[in-house]
Amino acid sequence: MQERLEERLHGLLTQFEGQNGAVIPLLQKVQETFGYLPRETIAQVAKFFKVSESEIFGVATFYAQFRFTRPGDHAIKVCLGTACHVRGGTQIMGTIERELEVKSGGTTKDYKFGLDRVACFGSCALAPVLVIDDKVYGRLTTSKVKEIIAKYQ
Ligand code: FES
Repeated sequence: MQERLEERLHGLLTQFEGQNGAVIPLLQKVQETFGYLPRETIAQVAKFFKVSESEIFGVATFYAQFRFTRPGDHAIKVCLGTACHVRGGTQIMGTIERELEVKSGGTTKDYKFGLDRVACFGSCALAPVLVIDDKVYGRLTTSKVKEIIAKYQ
């Protein structure tokens, strides 16, 4: 796995030979390839551009598009916008966190699910709402959420 990561990263780095200012496009390519920015890749990108690791890390953390943890196979996004919050979004999030033993912003130990919060999906009439991959689930209750999650396990 490690060897494969290095090989794939090396392939990406060679595409950016001589492009000193291309930190962000390279990080985007790395994320596109691995689904996130693995720690080892930050070190290699820093070496490639001859800057410190903290500089690369600083650039990457500045942009919300970059993530530093491996995503789950299924992305669960729970809405905690006003309408969803008022109708129990926080309890929905809490149920998922307990059921899957993962905190918002994290990935389950088996990498099956990633969990994130979202401000509003624009489906407020269906509040509380969550989205798994591209599928929207609305008018949720805690028991309904457990059933939905079970379908993906
Ligand atoms: S507040 Fe949740 S969909 Fe709008």
